[in-house]
Amino acid sequence: MAILPGSTLGMLGGGQLGRMFVVAARTMGYDVIVLDPDPASPAGGLASQHLAQAYDDREALDYLAQHCAVVTTEFENIPADTLSYLARSVSVHPSAEALQVAQHRLLEKDFFREQGLDTAAFLAVENEADIVNAIDFNFPAILKTATLGYDGKGQVVCEDFEELAKAFQQLGSKPCVLEQRIDLACEVSVVLGRSVSGEVTCFPIAENRHANGILDVTLVPARISDVLAAKALDAATRIANGLDYCGVLAVEFFISTDGRVLVNEMAPRPHNSGHYTNDACVTSQFEQQVRMVCDLPAGSCHLHSPVAMLNLLGDIWPAEDIPAWDEVLSEDMAKLHLYGKKEARPGRKMGHINCLGVTREDASSLLEKVRKLLN
Ligand SMILES: Nc1ncnc2c1ncn2[C@@H]1O[C@H](COP(=O)(O)OP(=O)(O)OP(=O)(O)O)[C@@H](O)[C@H]1O
Ligand SMILES: [Mg+2]
Repeated sequence: MAILPGSTLGMLGGGQLGRMFVVAARTMGYDVIVLDPDPASPAGGLASQHLAQAYDDREALDYLAQHCAVVTTEFENIPADTLSYLARSVSVHPSAEALQVAQHRLLEKDFFREQGLDTAAFLAVENEADIVNAIDFNFPAILKTATLGYDGKGQVVCEDFEELAKAFQQLGSKPCVLEQRIDLACEVSVVLGRSVSGEVTCFPIAENRHANGILDVTLVPARISDVLAAKALDAATRIANGLDYCGVLAVEFFISTDGRVLVNEMAPRPHNSGHYTNDACVTSQFEQQVRMVCDLPAGSCHLHSPVAMLNLLGDIWPAEDIPAWDEVLSEDMAKLHLYGKKEARPGRKMGHINCLGVTREDASSLLEKVRKLLN
């Protein structure tokens, strides 16, 4: 049964994704209770209520279960126990099972393969003894920790087999995945919504450029052929169906120079590469998350304008000053989003700007202009 405006929704995690969910949900007339241990979390201040408790705090979880019609998440590393505990007394979307797959690179890659999808060649390096198995691996490769990696953290490039042992130590001798480094033509992502009853609605494919392992720019429409686009949409849909997923799911892809569509990883939540939907689509990915978890029909994913999204990292904050927002805001097609984080640290995601244009080229050149204003 649909959960209608006036109801209260629970959000596990209070980062920027939670914040934008809160904005979307409250705009639609819902109340949101956020659980995040950080008293200064970006979502907490905008929520109807913020529980600044640990994710495994039973009292806080019981409170959520009692007061919310449904609980969702913005953070894939919520302990699976938290979700299964909640699921005993309140509906939880996405499921603990879907999160568990997304939390572990090996489980995730095995799952992609089971769905018949291509990934970069990989090998489990879970301990010291596994290292010799990589003797015939196709280097250069990237060693990635199996859990808790984000924004390129927990990754070391290995040019050859000789570098592997050191890389493994560098990553704390924790379970890892060794992954072949792909010659990239480009990277794309698909953000989709899947309803309680299994209907899938995809946003337009996003083309993503990274700098130092962190998303820098998203361009939509993506500059890829219809054939490659169809493959990516089909793969993302298969993943969502295979997980019997409910909510918003993002799937990242590598497009190799030899024209293969390789699944990189997934995120069981809205995604940085879907922030363009805030200003360029009829429905944002955050409104879609509200609609999906509340068992409402999907909103239109129609793109009403080409768009280039620029991520704003803490690096651009001048010492003891603020960036030139006045100049950015004098660009009437640039839409500024800030996450309310008090401290700007290098590499920290502080906000983003959606640059709209009549054409993709207009959007891109506005992005470059805005980037200059801020640097
Ligand atoms: N096998 C690979 N071949 C080529 N480039 C890669 C490979 N693995 C990672 N990269 C580059 O590093 C970026 C980050 O990698 P990945 O998506 O695995 O990391 P992450 O830390 O989980 O990032 P996030 O969760 O923030 O997306 C990729 O988007 C890509 O640009
Ligand atoms: Mg990634």
